[in-house]
Amino acid sequence: MKFFIDTANLDQIREAQDLGVLDGVTTNPSLMAKEGITGRENILKHYVDICNIVDGDVSAEVIATDFEGIIKEGKELAALHEQIVVKVPMIKEGVKAIKYFADNGIKTNCTLVFSAGQALLAAKAGATYVSPFIGRLDDISTDGLNLIAEIRLIYDNYGFDTQILAASVRHTMHVLECAKIGSDVMTGPLSSIEGLLKHPLTDIGLEKFLADYRKGN
Ligand code: G3P
Repeated sequence: MKFFIDTANLDQIREAQDLGVLDGVTTNPSLMAKEGITGRENILKHYVDICNIVDGDVSAEVIATDFEGIIKEGKELAALHEQIVVKVPMIKEGVKAIKYFADNGIKTNCTLVFSAGQALLAAKAGATYVSPFIGRLDDISTDGLNLIAEIRLIYDNYGFDTQILAASVRHTMHVLECAKIGSDVMTGPLSSIEGLLKHPLTDIGLEKFLADYRKGN
């Protein structure tokens, strides 16, 4: 299972990279705005800065919503760095663009996916990743993890290559449940990854080991 971090914060990306378990980064316009990154040039530079920190795929989202605009913007993003994956929304023009990018060797992440039908369409178009937003489904009393399970079943039925990238992950249990279901990737905040570390028996056990060592040394 790949671990991506869902942020545009360079310090957090560095921290996750230093942990040695990071496989990539996802961003979106809201996360960029949260870091105060505005203006086309600054945004493009920020993507390159992220690519220079991590080894894996970095999703960069298009703003255009028409086919020509998505293609133009996607090509510009893809040309920034070999690690860039063009993030395209699940809209009709987006599906057409994903097909175009797939035919032209450009990796894509189909975003804003909230149903199994949308995920099926993304896979048919040749998306590299599909991003079902599980936290936002939970927010409206719909089981986000069930969507991951549905997509896993459908993709396995037909051997689709599209990787399931569980997005809008909010906490560590989301990460664990996605792992059990067989999501290929999860993207979440640093806290959702660091939460995997924690167990009180580990802390108690370590404290005792060190105390016993100190007694004899
Ligand atoms: O990857 C999508 C993600 O950024 C959305 O997360 O927490 O805003 O629903 P959230």
